[in-house]
Amino acid sequence: MASVFYCLRATLTMTLLLTGIIVLVLMYCWSAPSPNCHPPPSQPNTSVLTKQPAKQQTDKPVLLLWFWPGNKRFDLQDCKRLFEIDSCHLTDDRSSYSRAHDVLVFHRAIQNLSNLPTSPRSRLQRWIWFNTDSPNKTRKIEGIQGLFNLTLSYRRDADINIRQGITFKKDSDEDFILPKKERLLCWIVDGDDFHTKSGERYSYYSELIKHIKVDVFNSSSTKGENYFLTISSCKFYLSFENSIYIDYITETFYEPLAVGTVPIVLGPPRKNYEDYAPRTSFIHVNDFPEAKALAKSLLELDKDDMAYMRYFDWRQFYIVRHPTEEKHEFAHAICQACRHVGIYKKYRVVPDLYKWFFQ
Ligand SMILES: *[C@@H]1O[C@H](CO)[C@@H](O)[C@H](O)[C@H]1NC(C)=O
Ligand SMILES: *[C@@H]1O[C@H](CO)[C@@H](O)[C@H](O)[C@H]1NC(C)=O
Ligand SMILES: *[C@@H]1O[C@H](CO)[C@@H](O)[C@H](O)[C@H]1NC(C)=O
Ligand SMILES: *[C@@H]1O[C@H](CO)[C@@H](O)[C@H](O)[C@H]1NC(C)=O
Ligand SMILES: *[C@@H]1O[C@H](CO)[C@@H](O)[C@H](O)[C@H]1NC(C)=O
Repeated sequence: MASVFYCLRATLTMTLLLTGIIVLVLMYCWSAPSPNCHPPPSQPNTSVLTKQPAKQQTDKPVLLLWFWPGNKRFDLQDCKRLFEIDSCHLTDDRSSYSRAHDVLVFHRAIQNLSNLPTSPRSRLQRWIWFNTDSPNKTRKIEGIQGLFNLTLSYRRDADINIRQGITFKKDSDEDFILPKKERLLCWIVDGDDFHTKSGERYSYYSELIKHIKVDVFNSSSTKGENYFLTISSCKFYLSFENSIYIDYITETFYEPLAVGTVPIVLGPPRKNYEDYAPRTSFIHVNDFPEAKALAKSLLELDKDDMAYMRYFDWRQFYIVRHPTEEKHEFAHAICQACRHVGIYKKYRVVPDLYKWFFQ
């Protein structure tokens, strides 16, 4: 009996001692990672360490902008400045084609295959089809249907989405102040388009003006700062899309939102707009059975400031960022491409571009 007890005690003491030693060794290793626990490479290569920032730089994919859309050039650093996007090395230098990971091709600028890159592309290089237009305004160019790996479009099912910037408000964002209003209802429209008067938006407009005054401005003489000042001076603005497709909701909608004017929208159904913006931020023409009823409602809102201001309640929670410089018209889309290629490396082929886009 005594010997069993003695044996147990010895085992216990040994176990305690061993545990203690293990704990001590572990603590030593954890608190001070030292050569004893984690031997470093036998020949520390300091040049590897000092080169690390440079290495990260080159790790960013090179995104080659093949055409400047609408010739609207901006500083290539602006993605960082405007949108805090810095995940690619953006360049417009065509001589970097062979080392570009991705090539962004603006559809409207393609003439035919001869103004696209002609030298063979590397196996991993991806071409991005960049189109901001609706199917109605998109020219079918022979031979490009099978060239692309990614799509950049207004459509939500594109690989890269051109989303305008409605974002949650940060504490640092300024409170909304309603700009001074001098007009009730305005429209800035291309003068020549206006005179051909085709399409749904003109038929609605001509019905509307039987019941309410609309101040119409010629877009070719209302440019730059003047453009935004004009929109903000109106209580309501006709955000009529030139063609009607799901998701085709353009700057004609976002610009009045950005400057503090209520858009009257004509385009895809209200539900589709609500995918992009708060439901109380705009008026849809289909909210009313006919133009006359819309006109009546607008005239009432003109006399009821409280009711009018309710169209800005959403601004407590959201803001719309908008580049005010014309040269930045395509910057948001280009920077979205930069963000995408920096994150997603997927191999992908768009088998038939037109089948997807014009379906
Ligand atoms: C250190 O690394 C650099 C770059 O990887 C390499 O060119 C150089 O030969 C290395 N030097 C040593 C001493 O290993
Ligand atoms: C491509 O477009 C250019 C410029 O419009 C034209 O000169 C050329 O002939 C076209 N090439 C082909 C193969 O159609
Ligand atoms: C619009 O303005 C442009 C340039 O000022 C002018 O050429 C054009 O005739 C105007 N169009 C209309 C319909 O007034
Ligand atoms: C396409 O554009 C024309 C005018 O350019 C317009 O009349 C027509 O309604 C548009 N089609 C669609 C589906 O929006
Ligand atoms: C890109 O698309 C082309 C044409 O379909 C294809 O040959 C190529 O393998 C694709 N590359 C990648 C990286 O997806």
